[in-house]
Amino acid sequence: MPPTNGKPPRFTKDLSDPVTVPAAAIERATEIMRGGRLFRYGEFKGGISEVAALEREFADYLGVSYAVAMNSCGSTMFAALKCLDVMPGDPVLVNAFTLAPVPGAIEHAGGQSVFVQCNEDYCVDLEDLEHKAISSGARVFLMSHMRGHLADMQAVRALCSRHNIRLIEDCAHTLGASWAGQASGTFGEVGCFSLQTFKHINAGEGGILTTNSEDIAARAILYSGSYMLYAQNGTPPAEPVFERYKYTTPNCSLRMNELVAALARPQIGLLQQRAELWRERYHWLEESLAQIPQVSLPRRPPEEQHVPSSIQFSLPGLDGTAIAEVLARCKADGVDIKWFGRETPVAFTSTWKHWRYVKVEQALPETEKMLGGLCDMRIPLSLTQEDCQVIVAVLADAITEVAKA
Ligand SMILES: Cc1ncc(COP(=O)(O)O)c(C=O)c1O
Repeated sequence: MPPTNGKPPRFTKDLSDPVTVPAAAIERATEIMRGGRLFRYGEFKGGISEVAALEREFADYLGVSYAVAMNSCGSTMFAALKCLDVMPGDPVLVNAFTLAPVPGAIEHAGGQSVFVQCNEDYCVDLEDLEHKAISSGARVFLMSHMRGHLADMQAVRALCSRHNIRLIEDCAHTLGASWAGQASGTFGEVGCFSLQTFKHINAGEGGILTTNSEDIAARAILYSGSYMLYAQNGTPPAEPVFERYKYTTPNCSLRMNELVAALARPQIGLLQQRAELWRERYHWLEESLAQIPQVSLPRRPPEEQHVPSSIQFSLPGLDGTAIAEVLARCKADGVDIKWFGRETPVAFTSTWKHWRYVKVEQALPETEKMLGGLCDMRIPLSLTQEDCQVIVAVLADAITEVAKA
């Protein structure tokens, strides 16, 4: 139990510290910069590009046939929607609890986001999914495993096949995670991963689309901007597959550059070790948070193997004013906790209510209630068990002080 008698010490680490980039990656990136060949495609010289090598290694890591590197996860989601033939105005199912690049990708592809409610464990509500699948007529579900919370994937898959819905997984927060032993990103037709700084692999920016479909892979490579150099991809389908699409697929210039791949490649082998460190830190925080009566934590089913680079908890008994006050006190004591219940979008945190470009009016009372109390904190790998206790003590103290006021 965190100390409750007396004011806890101020927390001094930066919760936004990213994972560090290994020395081998920095050396390789420097070497590439010296040579000047920063673009993945080349016309005259043979040899495999850094991006192609990343594609091969990532596909092997995930156990899929094809990986297509792009400049962000947002780009991979856009390309995935295009590959599944989302047309302007088409409804696309998406969790209401997600971050801005997800409805952004739907908008980019010309689709209309149809938000599906999320439950108190922060996962998609399967009943609402079924209801919206029927009422919207959507043919695609862009499922965001937001903050690494995995819903029952067998049930999701069964529901999608019952309603003829094609599944794309947004795995920006689930690289290395699995459900019942199966890797996240392999349940749908397409998996979309992020290599952005605050994700499990830190390459600054970057995304990887994965699939077992040769048609989706060929189309994604062409959309990503391969020109007619698509055979230089790390996992290219055979030429006849490209022949089917090369005259009808626009080059959308979503390519990854060589530096990003050089930074990312050596981190694939570190994923397992990082996952263990994140789980350990999550467990320390979860255990201490569970002792604060006002805090509620999500149920994490045994099938879920998560890789928690952040932790979420709710303060269900506190109203908005009290939560704002608690979090302001935490911040003053060095603990930066984000909150999904703010009226206005702040920093990286915005919610479905702020995405006003989505024109179809939607009512999501359960999600609104859930988000109203939902707090969110990054877990840097530098946290010690003692740090976790200090963080929780700061929160416990803030809750106590606000209750007194
Ligand atoms: C849930 C979720 N999906 C997708 C993305 C998009 O990733 P990227 O920044 O690589 O486009 C993000 C980015 O933070 C995210 O949080």
